[in-house]
Amino acid sequence: MIKSKFDFITEELENLKKESRYNYIRVIESPQDSWLVIEGRKKLNLCSNNYLGLANHPEIIQFCIEGIKKYGIGPGAVRSIAGTNVLHIELEKKLSEFKHTEDTILLQSGFNANLAVIPTLLDSPDDAVISDELNHASIIDAIRLSKAKRFIYKHLDMNDLEEKLKEASGCRRKVVVTDGVFSMDGDIAPLPKIVELCQKYEAILVVDDAHGEGVLGNKGRGIVDHFNLHGKVDIEVGTLSKAFGVVGGFVSSNSMVIEFLKQKARPFLFSSALTIPDTLAAIKAIDIILNSDVVERLWENTRYFKTEMMKLGFDLGSSQTPITPVMLYEESLTQEFAKMLFEEDIFAMPIFYPTVPKNKARIRVMISAMHTKNDLDFALEKFQKIGKKLGII
Ligand SMILES: Cc1ncc(COP(=O)(O)O)c(C=O)c1O
Repeated sequence: MIKSKFDFITEELENLKKESRYNYIRVIESPQDSWLVIEGRKKLNLCSNNYLGLANHPEIIQFCIEGIKKYGIGPGAVRSIAGTNVLHIELEKKLSEFKHTEDTILLQSGFNANLAVIPTLLDSPDDAVISDELNHASIIDAIRLSKAKRFIYKHLDMNDLEEKLKEASGCRRKVVVTDGVFSMDGDIAPLPKIVELCQKYEAILVVDDAHGEGVLGNKGRGIVDHFNLHGKVDIEVGTLSKAFGVVGGFVSSNSMVIEFLKQKARPFLFSSALTIPDTLAAIKAIDIILNSDVVERLWENTRYFKTEMMKLGFDLGSSQTPITPVMLYEESLTQEFAKMLFEEDIFAMPIFYPTVPKNKARIRVMISAMHTKNDLDFALEKFQKIGKKLGII
C-alpha cells in the first residue's frame, strides 16, 4: 500500500486526542462579554484576556464607527511603503505617555512585537540572550529567530540569572528577557533584582508586559510602574489584545531604540500596519482606562474570587494577579473538570502540555472587571459542586 504523505498528521492528531491534549475550539455567537452565547446557550465567560471589559465597550464602538467613516478600514500596506496614518502616530504617542517612555512603535500583535525586538537586537552568534524558562512562546520563537547564544535561567531564580550572565560575559551584546506577569501561572517577575543584575552585567533588559498593562501599577500602566522602575527598564513589549480589548502589539522604549526598530525590524518592514478600527479602539481604550475605575474593579473581583476559592480548598498555584490557575495537575482530570463546568454553563479553559509543563494541567480562570458579584458567586458555586464531585476538595 502507498503510504500517504500526510499519514504523520493523522497520527499526530490521533495522539493528541489519546493524550487528552487536543484543543476543541468553541464557537462564540455573541460579543466578548461576561456572558457569551455558545451553542445557543448563555455561558459565564471565565477565559478571556479582556481584563477590563473593553472588547465590547459602547463608547469604544461608537468612537470606532465615527472614525471608520473618516479614515476607512485598511492600512493599505506596510507603513514604510504606504505611509503611516495619523492615527498610528496618535496611538504611539498615547502609549508612550501611558507607559512613561520616550517613544513607541506599533506592531500587528504582541507575538510580532517580540519577533520585532529580539532578532533585531541580536543578529550575531557572538550575542547572548538570557531568558526565563517559562517565558511566553513568542519570546521563545523570537529567540529561535535570533542568531544569539541561548542561556535559559530557572523560573524567577535570580541566582541562576546571575550565573547565566557570568557565563555570557564574553559575548558582544547581552539581552535579558522576561515576561512581566507569567501568563499561565499569574506570578510576577522580580523586576527590581533583574534591573540590578542587568546594570551590573551591562545587559539590555526586555520585559514583555502583555499581562501587566491594564492590570498592574497606577491606572494599569504596567509592571514598570508597579515597581516604580521608570527609566530603568530598557525595552517594554506590549499587546493591545488583552486589557485594551482589541488586537495589536507595541514596543515602548527610548527614541533611539524605536528609530532602530522602525528601520530594521522585519515584522514592521514586511507586514502591514494595524487596521484603522483596531487603532481607533486602542486610542479610546486608553482614555477609558485612565478616566474610570475599571482597574480597581478588576482587582476587587480578583481578591474576592481568589479568597473564596482558597476557602473552598482549591490550589491556586503561585498567582499574584487576576490570572487564576486552578491547579489539577493531571491532563484527563482537567479535561473532565472543564467539560463539567461547561455543562454547568461556565466557559473556562483547560490548559495542558505543551502550553504548560507535563503534569501541571490546570483550569485557567481569568477574572475581569466586567464580572458582577453574582457572576463570581455563580462560578464559585459550580467550582465547589464539581470539585466535590471529582474528590478534589
Ligand atoms: C506574555 C505574552 N506575550 C505575548 C503574547 C502575544 O500577544 P498577542 O495575542 O497580542 O499576539 C501573549 C499572549 O498570549 C502573552 O501572554
